[in-house]
Amino acid sequence: MAKAKTIYFCQECGHESAKWMGQCPGCKQWNTFVEETVERRKGAAEKKPILGASPVILADIEMKREERFTSGFPELDRVLGGGIVPASLVLVGGDPGIGKSTLLLQVCQKLSAQQIQVLYISGEESLQQIKIRAQRIGSFTDSLFLLCETNLDIIDGVLRKEKPQVVIIDSIQTMYSENISSSPGSVSQVREATAAFMQLAKGLGITIFIVGHVTKEGVVAGPRVLEHMVDTVLYFEGDRHAAYRILRGVKNRFGSTNEIGVFEMREQGLAEVKNPSEYMLSGKPKDASGSVVACSIEGTRPILLEVQALVCRSNFGIPRRTADGTDTNRVNLLMAVLEKRLNLRLSECDAYVNIAGGIKMNEPALDLGIVLAIISSYKERCIDEKMICFGEVGLSGEVRAVHMAKQRILEARKLGFTTCILPKVSLDAQNNVDGITLLGVENVQQAVRKIL
Ligand code: TYD
Ligand code: MG
Repeated sequence: MAKAKTIYFCQECGHESAKWMGQCPGCKQWNTFVEETVERRKGAAEKKPILGASPVILADIEMKREERFTSGFPELDRVLGGGIVPASLVLVGGDPGIGKSTLLLQVCQKLSAQQIQVLYISGEESLQQIKIRAQRIGSFTDSLFLLCETNLDIIDGVLRKEKPQVVIIDSIQTMYSENISSSPGSVSQVREATAAFMQLAKGLGITIFIVGHVTKEGVVAGPRVLEHMVDTVLYFEGDRHAAYRILRGVKNRFGSTNEIGVFEMREQGLAEVKNPSEYMLSGKPKDASGSVVACSIEGTRPILLEVQALVCRSNFGIPRRTADGTDTNRVNLLMAVLEKRLNLRLSECDAYVNIAGGIKMNEPALDLGIVLAIISSYKERCIDEKMICFGEVGLSGEVRAVHMAKQRILEARKLGFTTCILPKVSLDAQNNVDGITLLGVENVQQAVRKIL
C-alpha cells in the first residue's frame, strides 16, 4: 500500500511545509504546525461546478435590480457597506463566547421578519439549545429553518434543494467533507468547506454567513486561513468583562473597510448602540487629572473617547509603561517626545495609559489626547471637562493635521463640548462651527500653555 502523503499546516495562517517546524515562517507563531493527510479518498466523486464555464462580455452582464437588502441591524448594514449583498460569502470571526451565534441568530430573526427564507445550520448546538437561545432573544416567524449538520455533502444537497436566500454556517470549524481524511477544524477541511460554500453562494445566489472562531494556538484552524477566500471579513470583538461589542470590517469586496458597528450584550441578546460616543464617555470622572476626551475616526464615523493616564514616581530603576487599548510603542515614543521637547522628567516615572471602556483605537489623531492626559497626570492638573482634542504629534513635538476635522468638531458639539484643541492648519473657515471654540496649536508646548 502506498504511503499516505502528509503535509504540515500552520493552523494560524495556513502556511504549508513538508516537515514540522517549531515556528511558522509565515506568521511567526510557535507550535502551530499540525500534520494533515492531503490525499483525497478513493472513489470520492469530483463535484461538478455549478458556474458555467463560458466567458462573457462585460457589457452583456445583466445587473439585477435589488442590489442589497437590509439585515435589520443598521449597525451591521453599515459594516457590510450598506446592506447584505446577494450571493456573497461573509466571514464573522471572533473569540469563542463573544456573541457570534447570538448576533447571527438575531440577524435570522430580523431577516425572517422581512419574509426572507433563512436557514441556520449549526454544527455546535442541538436544535433544543438553539431554541433556548431563541427564546431569550424574542419571537420568530415561520421563514426561519434550522438544521443541525456538519457533513458538507448533506448540506450541499439541502441547499440545492431548498435554495434559501440566506444561510448561516455556525461554525466553519465543525464542518467536514468526506473527501478529505483529516479531522474537522484542520486547515484542509476548513479550506475545502469554504471553497464549497463559495461555489454554492455564487452558483445558487445564496448569501452565506460563516462563523469562524479565533483560536489560541493551533488546535483548530483560525479564520485567518480563509480570509482571502471570502468576500467580506468581519471581526466581532470586545472585552469579555464589558457589555459592549464591536463589529469591525477587515475586508470587504463591496464596500469600505474599517467601518465599525457597536453593540451591547444584554439579557435578551445584542442591542445596537446608536450613539457610541455617549456610551464611551458615560463613566468619565469629574475633576480628575490625567483624563481627557479625544476623537478618533472609525471608518466614516467620529467616536469620542476618554484617554486616561496615570503617571507616578517609579520605585525601580526601569520605569513601568503600559498602554491598554492603544499601541504601547506609540505611547513610549510620545513620552520620549515630551521628555525632550518639554523637559518633563518622565524617565523617572511609571506611566499607565488607558482608553476607557476597553475599546482599541490606534488612530494617530489620538496622539494629542494621550500627550495631554500624560501631562495632566504628571502635573496633577485637571483639564476642562468640556474640552476635546485631536491631532497627530510628530517627533519634534509639532501637532500635525488629521483628516475629517469638521466631522470631529461636529460630533464634539453634538455631545455638548465647548472647546476643541486641534492642529493650527485645520483652523480654516469651513471648519468653523457655532457653539464651539476652536483653539489651533502648532506644537505640544502651545497646547499645554493654552489649557493647563
Ligand atoms: P455566543 O453567541 O454563544 O458566542 P459565540 O457564538 O461567539 O461563541 O454568546 C455567548 C455569550 O453571550 C454567553 O457568555 C452569554 C451571552 N449572552 C447574553 O448575555 N445574553 C443573551 O441573550 C445571549 C443569547 C447570550
Ligand atoms: Mg457560537
